[in-house]
This record gives sequence, C-alpha cells and structure tokens, in this order.
Amino acid sequence: MGSGQACFPDLNDTGVLITGGASGIGAALVKGFAAQGCRVAILDIDAKAGAATVAGCAEAKHTPVLEVVDLRDAAATRTAVERAAERLGGIKTVVNNAAWDDRRDIEAVTPDYWDMSLGINLRPAFFVTQAALPWLKLSGSGAVINFSSVAFMMNLPDMPAYLTAKAGIIGLTKGLAGKLGPDNIRVNAILPGMVLTERQKQLWVSDEAAEAHKARQCLKFSLTAEDMVGPCLFLASSISGAVSAQSLIVDGGYF
Ligand SMILES: NC(=O)c1ccc[n+]([C@@H]2O[C@H](COP(=O)([O-])OP(=O)(O)OC[C@H]3O[C@@H](n4cnc5c(N)ncnc54)[C@H](O)[C@@H]3O)[C@@H](O)[C@H]2O)c1
Repeated sequence: MGSGQACFPDLNDTGVLITGGASGIGAALVKGFAAQGCRVAILDIDAKAGAATVAGCAEAKHTPVLEVVDLRDAAATRTAVERAAERLGGIKTVVNNAAWDDRRDIEAVTPDYWDMSLGINLRPAFFVTQAALPWLKLSGSGAVINFSSVAFMMNLPDMPAYLTAKAGIIGLTKGLAGKLGPDNIRVNAILPGMVLTERQKQLWVSDEAAEAHKARQCLKFSLTAEDMVGPCLFLASSISGAVSAQSLIVDGGYF
C-alpha cells in the first residue's frame, strides 16, 4: 500500500543513520527518509546493494552516503558511525534495522551460530546507538527506532536465536528509553508482520504461505517494505514527540 506522500518538515536536513539500509525494508526506509530531505547514512555489509540503493535516490535533496561495515565487528561499527556522523553533519535519528533471519534446526544450533545470530540481530542495536549518542544528544530531540518482529510471538520453530534477539530488542528499547528520556531522546520499536521483500520471496515465503498469512490479517493485502516507511517516519518526527518506550506492530492486523 505504500506510505503515501506525508511530509514531516522537522526531518528536513536532519541526519538519519539506517543499519541494513542496502536492501529490503532498509532500502525503502533510506528512500523514504531521503524523500523527506534527510541526510541519510547507510551502514551495511553489502556494498553492491548499498550502491544501488544510493543510486536509486538520485532525485533526493541529499544523496545518501554508504558506510560498508560488518555490524558484528563492534570496533568497526563505532568507526563507521563516527564517519557517518561526520559526513552527515550530525545524527538525529538512528534506525536499527539490519538483521539475518536465518533458520536452523535446533540440533544444528552451535554456540558459534547462536553468537553470530545475536551478533547481528541484537548486539548492533545497542552499540550503534551507543556510538551515535553524542550526536543524538546534540540534536536536542533524538529518535531511535529498533526493528523487532511479530515473529517472536508466533511460536515459530527453527529460528530460536533470531526470535530471542527480536524479543531482546523490546527489552533493549525499553531500557534505552528509560536511560535516554532525560536527554529528550525517544526510543521505540517497530514490529513488522510478514513483509514480502525479494529475499523473503526467494528464500522463505511461498505463494501459498503468503496467501495463508494474508487470509489471517484484518487487511487483505500483502505488506511490502514501503508499508514500514510511514510508521518509521512518524516515530522519527516530533509529531510523535511524546511517544517513547513503545512497540508499534505493523502487520496488517495479524495480531
Ligand atoms: N521481511 C519481513 O517479513 C520482516 C518481518 C518482521 C521483522 N522484520 C525485520 O525488519 C528488518 C528488515 O528486514 P528485511 O526483511 O528487510 O531484512 P533483509 O535481510 O532483507 O535485509 C537486512 C539488511 O541487513 C544487512 N546485513 C545483514 N547482516 C549484516 C552485517 N553483519 N553487517 C551489516 N549489515 C548486515 C543486509 O545486507 C541487508 O541489507 C529486520 O530487522 C527484520 O528482522 C522483517
């Protein structure tokens, strides 16, 4: 359905850092924030997809910048956030969106696999925010938006590490909101439902599964990455200036 043409003037010219912005939902967010006149930085491991997303924003007021980084590497992540802040001239919004929704049978989950999953699906949301804090504070009205998932409430098999991380994102959101509220930094979570990105269609979601999911939603259309843009802009904008520590489910009314 997309996010329409809503305009959030307070976001114009502000710095927005989006992890995992090279593809999927992240790429739609990059385009959505760039269309608001934001200065956007993408932090992503995928240089090729990142460059394509930047190229797709050629019409934007500010061309997004790309920092190629493996977010599992905390030191490299800090450096990438600092470089992004310099290139943007500040950061007012952080969107922790990067993830790796791998599936693995319970018997095949090793300690290394567990650590790797949480190392991309949970840990960077804290350390990216930590590294961005000086600029979030300077902005006077920072916003952090963490991507969780309704999946952790669905008793799904074969992705215990991913689901643990996505539940952890809610706890992290509330903990950071409590700490950062006095600096007027708001921290909220978005829980998408089934969003039919190219990756989802290629790897995990058959046409039948998509239809069955849609049948259980109140709204009878399959969600796309663009459907996440409006809720994210809303949580970044001062229009939601009294909203913090909340979880916003965007799932077409599945729950
Ligand atoms: N697509 C869905 O149906 C759905 C449903 C619920 C929640 N979500 C959540 O929404 C967010 C976006 O989902 P998506 O489907 O667009 O994901 P995706 O897998 O399509 O994209 C994730 C992005 O993160 C990047 N990334 C992965 N590992 C990285 C690493 N180590 N370092 C740096 N970047 C890395 C990838 O290159 C990619 O650009 C995620 O947090 C996901 O958990 C998605």
